[in-house]
Amino acid sequence: MAFKVGLLGLGTVGTGTAEILMNPAQRHPLLREIELCRVGVRSLDKTRSVHLPSGILTTDLEAIVTDPTIDIVIEVIGGLEPARSLILKAIAHGKHVVTANKAAIARFGDEIFTAANEAGVYVLIEAAVAGGIPVIEPLKQSLCANRIHAITGIINGTTNYILTRMQTEGSDFDTILADAQRLGYAEADPTADIDGFDAADKVAILASLAFGGRIKLPEVYREGIRQISAADIAYAERLGFVIKLLATAKRDAAIEFDETSGQPDQLQVRVHPTLVPKAHPLASVNGVFNAILIEGDPVGQVMFFGPGAGSGPTASAIVSDILNIAAILKVGRERVVQADGTPLLDPLLACSHQHYCTIAPIDDLVTRFYARVLTQDNPGVIGKLGTCFGNHDVSLESVVQIGLRDNLAEIVVITHHVREGNFRHALEEIRCFEAVAIVPSVLRVL
Ligand code: HSE
Repeated sequence: MAFKVGLLGLGTVGTGTAEILMNPAQRHPLLREIELCRVGVRSLDKTRSVHLPSGILTTDLEAIVTDPTIDIVIEVIGGLEPARSLILKAIAHGKHVVTANKAAIARFGDEIFTAANEAGVYVLIEAAVAGGIPVIEPLKQSLCANRIHAITGIINGTTNYILTRMQTEGSDFDTILADAQRLGYAEADPTADIDGFDAADKVAILASLAFGGRIKLPEVYREGIRQISAADIAYAERLGFVIKLLATAKRDAAIEFDETSGQPDQLQVRVHPTLVPKAHPLASVNGVFNAILIEGDPVGQVMFFGPGAGSGPTASAIVSDILNIAAILKVGRERVVQADGTPLLDPLLACSHQHYCTIAPIDDLVTRFYARVLTQDNPGVIGKLGTCFGNHDVSLESVVQIGLRDNLAEIVVITHHVREGNFRHALEEIRCFEAVAIVPSVLRVL
């Protein structure tokens, strides 16, 4: 019995996927039952590094998603359209779908999973978050006995590469970004990575799985790393921290889950650069690597580490999804319909939620802050800053003035845990002080 697969896209990830499918030796025996039948590409003329059976390349992607002989469609073309339409069409034609497309899943997950549930097919997305690191399947299956409290991750390799080099070389952001682009670690248009969009897509997906509800992407708070300077990295280092772009999804500790009233949880879902204590497990995740720390009850802390992108690692995730679907099909190809007429799907693999999670506004976040303030070096300035923070219920953990920058006093403040809204109001006032020239950076502290 062969399971027939159609592949949409033969770029980096598509090529890695085809390479595994064409070379099953010493891998799981089920792989020998997977037949790559059609591969959709933009041009037939390009030279390909992978050897494929003759005649399987086509530029007609629609023909793949509607082909009655194909069981599973692999979407690795990326982007929003035509990926979304092709996924929906594949589902409408009864195909199971495997995709690495975090942008499409984070934006259109509701319509894609609703359509999949109605059609009785699976849409599996292991490759959409953190490339080769298994994190989707563990959230759905291995950790499903847990109440998840928090997910904290480094889930964008490009920004982690840049921040790591800034840390080790003491260079500024623009210099390292330009070099990363020259070396191929950052895209020519780096916006999706640098400004946190890619990480926001991924954390929305993780939050949805961890907390069993849909996430509206525009409600995910997002800041990128453009404003991080060599000065901030150096101060962080002196204070015992490294700066990482962290993606966080957690239950708001202030609002406990109320089982009796069914009160929906409030979640924090956010991406921003963060000062991470050097002893924290995420602090030593460097270069292009990704890591995800999951905290659950009763398991405690579990951390996943590995390559978050690249041809082989991402293809590894895709092929594991193909095999998961093939395993289910092997047990029974007939779709089972329940008494209410809906198709029966494995509840651990299919999407089983329809409601939307409530996301707490960022002003309600309670966290520690780091702020760097440049002021006139006059008597009483630090006192005025302290009084203003105090007036807004912002308690300070430390205030240091180490030296001068551009003839201005450079004051670095670390707060205790404070409400973000209070901290922001204090900063608005501080920015208007006559002695204050500029507040070049404000970062959260883990
Ligand atoms: N651009 C992503 C990153 C890889 O830098 O991690 C694909 O998700």
